[in-house]
Amino acid sequence: MVEVLTDYQLVSDRAAGIIADQIRATPRGVIGFATGGTPIGAYDRLVALHRTQGLDFSTLTTFNLDEYVGLSPDHPQSYHSFMWQHLFGHVNIRASHAHILSGLAHDVDHACTEWEHRIEASGGIDLQILGIGSNGHIAFNEPGSSLTSRTRVVELAERTVQDNARFFDRPDKVPRTAVTMGIGTILEARCLLLMATGDHKAHAVAAALEGPITPDVPASALQRHTNVHVLLDSAAASQLSSV
Ligand code: PGA
Repeated sequence: MVEVLTDYQLVSDRAAGIIADQIRATPRGVIGFATGGTPIGAYDRLVALHRTQGLDFSTLTTFNLDEYVGLSPDHPQSYHSFMWQHLFGHVNIRASHAHILSGLAHDVDHACTEWEHRIEASGGIDLQILGIGSNGHIAFNEPGSSLTSRTRVVELAERTVQDNARFFDRPDKVPRTAVTMGIGTILEARCLLLMATGDHKAHAVAAALEGPITPDVPASALQRHTNVHVLLDSAAASQLSSV
């Protein structure tokens, strides 16, 4: 289902509503969280729902999509820090239930296999939140990624490094490698919630939703999933032919 709302605030409110409904319906469930600029508004809203309506995270389990290799969890630009700054630090989640891939694993292949086992042991992800890169990536599965890929180490595309440079004080500080859940891993979630806002995402959104399913546009793999909810603002939807 594709839903187009006028602006970022409405997309954020709607996304938070969907996530909150999922948490209320399945308090012991499993949510996959995403990082980046897009979900910040939704996370702010979830924090507000926790404060004003007692939205309860205490029995929830979470898995994050990806992390930069080489950044420690307490590095300000790590995705671990991002999640605690924008969401986990302001709600009653148990730290031991909030899983984030380590960017410093000694044996990274082992860590990736463990990660897959941990998701499986949790019962699988009920709702996976996703952004989309301006180059069509999902998580850090860059163009060229196998559509059946699993959790692994990847090289970031030059475009992603440039897009993410805004979060770092110097462009050369942006890590060039990351650990990411694979496309195959993501497609196993029972429901996917993709959010995209801004006209810089319009081309990627149209290619992902209406173009051929191809590793050149990793997000096009979402067409293979039967339960995908897409939330767009009008700018991100502007190149779709059928909305
Ligand atoms: P953004 O990133 O939310 O910062 O635009 C999305 C992504 O790269 O998946």
